[in-house]
Amino acid sequence: MTTDEQRTREDELVQLVVDSFDGTPDPRLREIMQSAVRHLHGFLRDVRLTEEEWSQGIDFLTAVGHLTDDRRQEFILLSDTLGASMQTIAINNEAHGDATEATVFGPFFVDDAPEVPLGGDIAGGAAGQPCWVEGTVRDTEGRPVAGARLEVWEADDDGFYDVQYDDDRTAGRAHLFSDDDGGFRFWAITPTPYPIPDDGPVGAMLAATGRSPMRASHLHFMVTAAHLRTLVTHIFVRGDELLDSDSVFGVKESLVKDFVEQPAGTPTPDGRDLGDAAWSRVGFDIVLAPA
Ligand code: BEZ
Ligand code: FE
Repeated sequence: MTTDEQRTREDELVQLVVDSFDGTPDPRLREIMQSAVRHLHGFLRDVRLTEEEWSQGIDFLTAVGHLTDDRRQEFILLSDTLGASMQTIAINNEAHGDATEATVFGPFFVDDAPEVPLGGDIAGGAAGQPCWVEGTVRDTEGRPVAGARLEVWEADDDGFYDVQYDDDRTAGRAHLFSDDDGGFRFWAITPTPYPIPDDGPVGAMLAATGRSPMRASHLHFMVTAAHLRTLVTHIFVRGDELLDSDSVFGVKESLVKDFVEQPAGTPTPDGRDLGDAAWSRVGFDIVLAPA
């Protein structure tokens, strides 16, 4: 129970710190700093943080910083696992008509992935069950978007992206362009679940709080077209038991799709001979908001 005297002391400190930013020339920076201070102090006071816990928090953030370099971004992983990335995406990708929802970008996108033709295979040798992906790109008026650039990337059956391999192979990623009717189609592999990198402080935080590092199975898309809002999203596999516990809160019901199993021997859409392998197919109609 805090006394009136105690509450006054704490209030006065918050105000002192907030006021210290009054002279910030950039009004937006001033707004951000003063709000951050109010929320930070609100949190400290809410949980009545002990000095030992404060020190542990500093150690945690220090470890996050030490692990971060140009290949491993532990701060983004922290933001992802706290839902801060998804909240920022929600704020900045306002609902617009039936525009496709955005979701988290993740750390495994690579610029300059190879181009594949329509109907090509993005797997590039990545292990997994073949999956035929097809759909259209339209604007919110329903007009087909020709020449939209689709970047697609995914983990292999063992849960690894090519950038996690020991060699320089490119696999499970490519880009392609929609046709004159906005249509696209390509071969990929049926997505499977995998854990986010959990060998650092963020993984320790998840373990200490009884949370799983697993991501629901997904296939990443980034779709760009002139005069339309760039869409960064994934599609998820209906029936995946991880849909309700995705470690980065990326799942949106509208992005859960039917990956329909096709028994071995089922003719493929493009006549590709898959021998005695089963395969799957999924449809994804993309709607881009105006820029
Ligand atoms: C991913 O989907 O690739 C991912 C997203 C957020 C954190 C880690 C991985
Ligand atoms: Fe991913």
